[in-house]
Amino acid sequence: MRGAAMIEASPVAVAKQQTAFGKAFPYVLECGLPEATREMTGDWVRHHRDELLNQASEHGAILFRGFPVASAEDFDAFIAAFDLPNFPYNQSLSNAVRINWTERVFSANEAPAELTIFFHHEMAQTPIFPSKLFFFCEQPAEQGGETPLCRSDLLYQQLSERCPEFARNCEQKGLRYSNVMPSENDPLSGMGRNWQSTLGAQSREQAEARLAALDYTWEWLPGNCLRATTPVLPAVREVADGRKSFFNQLIAAFLGWKDTRNDPAKAIRFGDGEPLDADAVKVAAELADDLAFDVPWQSGDVVLLDNFLVMHGRRSFVGKRKVLASLVAVQRHAISPEGDGPQSGPHWSSSPKRAVAGG
Ligand code: FE2
Repeated sequence: MRGAAMIEASPVAVAKQQTAFGKAFPYVLECGLPEATREMTGDWVRHHRDELLNQASEHGAILFRGFPVASAEDFDAFIAAFDLPNFPYNQSLSNAVRINWTERVFSANEAPAELTIFFHHEMAQTPIFPSKLFFFCEQPAEQGGETPLCRSDLLYQQLSERCPEFARNCEQKGLRYSNVMPSENDPLSGMGRNWQSTLGAQSREQAEARLAALDYTWEWLPGNCLRATTPVLPAVREVADGRKSFFNQLIAAFLGWKDTRNDPAKAIRFGDGEPLDADAVKVAAELADDLAFDVPWQSGDVVLLDNFLVMHGRRSFVGKRKVLASLVAVQRHAISPEGDGPQSGPHWSSSPKRAVAGG
């Protein structure tokens, strides 16, 4: 460490902070040095990197408050100091339309303000997903616009008690997601990213090759739209201490995958093709809402999430809101060699593997 003034950050309490499995949720660290600079912050992150990553895994979420992060460039530098592999938007299969601000940083979702984005694990509806993600608030909304967080291990524990058969089916059968992508970005939809961008394809042939490589099935629809259906993906994931998290996009897909092309009723099925029990999905959504901690965004806030432990969403809002995101440390679902469904047994795993566009 260099320089006379050094950043010290202390854990602080925030309103409605929770405790989950003995850990504060979220963990909140406040910068104690008003004159801190971007460079000092980078040094501080590098110095405390391993400790911070451990805290993120234990607590599920860290809210960094009071650090000198004011722009996309500051945010990019903050993330870079963690030295984790970047997972660029253009290599992801995200349905959301986003705008890249820097190499690592893009808009969280360009969906209209009045849309609620339901709870989900980032990209758990695709075979390739980040293990951690960052959010940064450059400008909070005038009203609303919080980012609700939910401890997914708590949710799954409660869901298993309330709807044991449904939880068991999720775990044993896995899920298949289906969505219709437009041929041009649809700014009115939370899932309006066009198929060319989603799949990194210039032509139908390239799109089909990418989908085939990912074990998807597909169908071309009028208007040059593309319906893509995933292979069977895990819905439950083992996390620390033998706990399990509800690692999927079930709530978001069943309740929220709705636009002029998409009908939520067709968006998701169990891996064996059976429909989901709507009442159980409702229970899952209600439990998640009851468990929600709404990040009360202030300008300059940064949140680091463990994507395996914590679900997130977005409240609707009024006024201008600028929340940026960044994804890191990609992993893939382990799909059986035949590509036809879950590996035997209830425990899914993911193997570290870099995502490569086109593969
Ligand atoms: Fe998200």
